[in-house]
Amino acid sequence: MSNRLKVTPNDLSAFWMPFTSNRQFKQAPRMLAAAKDMHYTTTDGRQVLDGTAGLWCVNAGHCRPKITEAIQQQAAELDYAPAFQMGHPNAFELANRLVDLAPEGLDHVFYTNSGSESVETALKIALAYQRVKGEGSRTRLIGRERGYHGVNFGGISVGGIVTNRKMFGTLLAGVDHMPHTHNLAKNAFTRGEPEHGAELADELERIVTLHDASTIAAVIVEPVAGSTGVLIPPKGYLQKLRDICTKHGILLIFDEVITGFGRLGTPFASDYFGVTPDIITTAKGVSNGVIPMGAVFVKKEIHDAFMTGPEHMIELFHGYTYSGNPIACAAALGTLDTYKEEGLLTRGAELAPYWEDALHSLKGEPHVIDIRNIGLIGAIELQPIAGSPTKRAFSAFVKAFENGALIRTTGDIIALSPPLIISKAQIDELIDQVRKVLRAID
Ligand SMILES: Cc1ncc(COP(=O)(O)O)c(C=O)c1O
Repeated sequence: MSNRLKVTPNDLSAFWMPFTSNRQFKQAPRMLAAAKDMHYTTTDGRQVLDGTAGLWCVNAGHCRPKITEAIQQQAAELDYAPAFQMGHPNAFELANRLVDLAPEGLDHVFYTNSGSESVETALKIALAYQRVKGEGSRTRLIGRERGYHGVNFGGISVGGIVTNRKMFGTLLAGVDHMPHTHNLAKNAFTRGEPEHGAELADELERIVTLHDASTIAAVIVEPVAGSTGVLIPPKGYLQKLRDICTKHGILLIFDEVITGFGRLGTPFASDYFGVTPDIITTAKGVSNGVIPMGAVFVKKEIHDAFMTGPEHMIELFHGYTYSGNPIACAAALGTLDTYKEEGLLTRGAELAPYWEDALHSLKGEPHVIDIRNIGLIGAIELQPIAGSPTKRAFSAFVKAFENGALIRTTGDIIALSPPLIISKAQIDELIDQVRKVLRAID
């Protein structure tokens, strides 16, 4: 570890931290200095077991040699290439490798730099596609309550988390929302996909009847909602959404920013559920979180619909300075190599039964009102403290970090999503840490 990293600056005030309780943090900072495989090292030299793959992104574990080397080499060879009207070989190589992994038919990739940008890109492509195929009246976008699609205006408009929306004005016009599928009364302590709730997909029919299909461009959902506290789709729900979208000519977008790249024990959640959308948004695991990158997968028909008109003309007026950045592409190639060599995109399936049993062993611990799991994702929902929502889970997060485990909390829900390299012994350790914390907090 370099000395520079070990020193904590005296003044923490200049950095306005994202999605952070800044005042609390700056009174008692939680500082990371290094990471390797399943662990972080804090600036005071403690080892912390990573129960969240960073922020759902470090799927291959930390500081993996293939990825580090790829980045180092690329930085010394071709640091940047203009993204518009110019190319570099790795961007094309990576796109080919990505579409080989993607569900059949999703055979074109548009690069972004984050999940939020992937969502904006997908929504814009959906709107533009309807227009280029002569259905320009399809301008509405349908999201879902409790959905998280990043923090840009399109994403918060179709998203359904009130705290992320209420401060920011009127957002995009022409957006509607389906109800979320979380139902504690009927589905608490379900292992895997809940039995109850597939009929909630029929709400999409109601929305179509209200607005008319000819006004709706696309529906966007997370196949498993992550940031809102791990909401697992009821059995049959996603297929129903697919059928309704197909029936009405509405594009279905799966936001796979967290479920993409092995989180459920399959390359994509679309594979897990056997439901293929028209567009998939990804980020995070595509480059193991090491260099910012996102990728939007689209079906051939969508891509091809744009490939008309004079050949010197730009077909889609959209893109980012860093779309397909050489170092990000190198990181992603190193990531895909690591996933392949270690079988990580399917390792979650082998570990899932062990993970499930370990998680559900927390039933009966203090404050626990639900436990849910799918692939290598788990959630433990806590009874909120009356009058102080989120406080109990936040205390759990702080205590766990002090004790040597990184967990994530959202609302009063603990969400776990470890790197896909986790061992069974480390699963036991993580769950024991959570157990200790639950017994220790008020
Ligand atoms: C489903 C989903 N979409 C979009 C995003 C936004 O990604 P980013 O933070 O990279 O912009 C996230 C981030 O957690 C996510 O979970």
